Amino acid sequence: MKKDNIIRIGHRGACGYEPENTLRSFRKAIELGVEMTEFDVYVCATGELVVIHDDKVDRTTNGTGYVFKKTFSELRQLDAGQGEKIPTLEEVLDVINRKAKVNIELKGVGTAKPVAETIIRYQKEKGWLIDDFLVSSFNHHELKAFHDLLPEIPIGALITGIPLNYAEFAEKLGAQFVNVSMEFVTREFVDDAHQRGLKIAVFTVNEPDDFELIKAMGVDGVFSNFPDRI
Ligand code: G3P
Ligand code: MG
Repeated sequence: MKKDNIIRIGHRGACGYEPENTLRSFRKAIELGVEMTEFDVYVCATGELVVIHDDKVDRTTNGTGYVFKKTFSELRQLDAGQGEKIPTLEEVLDVINRKAKVNIELKGVGTAKPVAETIIRYQKEKGWLIDDFLVSSFNHHELKAFHDLLPEIPIGALITGIPLNYAEFAEKLGAQFVNVSMEFVTREFVDDAHQRGLKIAVFTVNEPDDFELIKAMGVDGVFSNFPDRI
């Protein structure tokens, strides 16, 4: 039972239980009652937005090679785990269907514009709201491109490290969230983010002990492969 205001974010769905970034994984995350689920997007050679974490298909499928060099039909022939296919962004949004918020992580270059177009379509045609979305990236250029296109959608600046001016980079980007890796989050970073009016979420937290540590720092959100453990 939840006893705090920390947002639980299913990482790549609920990838501790199901193959990451597959429809199975997103169904599991919803079943576990997450408030938000995160996933990663690239554009493939034929222009479709696909949900996969790595730039290559090697680790998570039975294929090899770069996502951006493969056509959609080539990608669809691959097994992403337990017979699952690499899903499109739209398939993922349709499965989630506003039962949880979505954190779309822009992994590949050139994702900002098609993601913005998809979000606009889901707002107009399927009743999704501004607050159903959080768009994030380690690539702050891609994130800025997205923010310039669709400034009303909340964005999160990702970082694995501790910049000298802590969350200043995220504030300058106009972000609502600064999301930092577990290994680098500190109380100073959390306090700085809050002083700038930003929320801060931490990835990836799978152990209850780690959750207690970052909870004591006052973080606002937690990404987990096992969202029910925290
Ligand atoms: O957005 C949090 C987290 O997903 C960032 O790292 O490598 O799992 O995409 P990664
Ligand atoms: Mg991610």
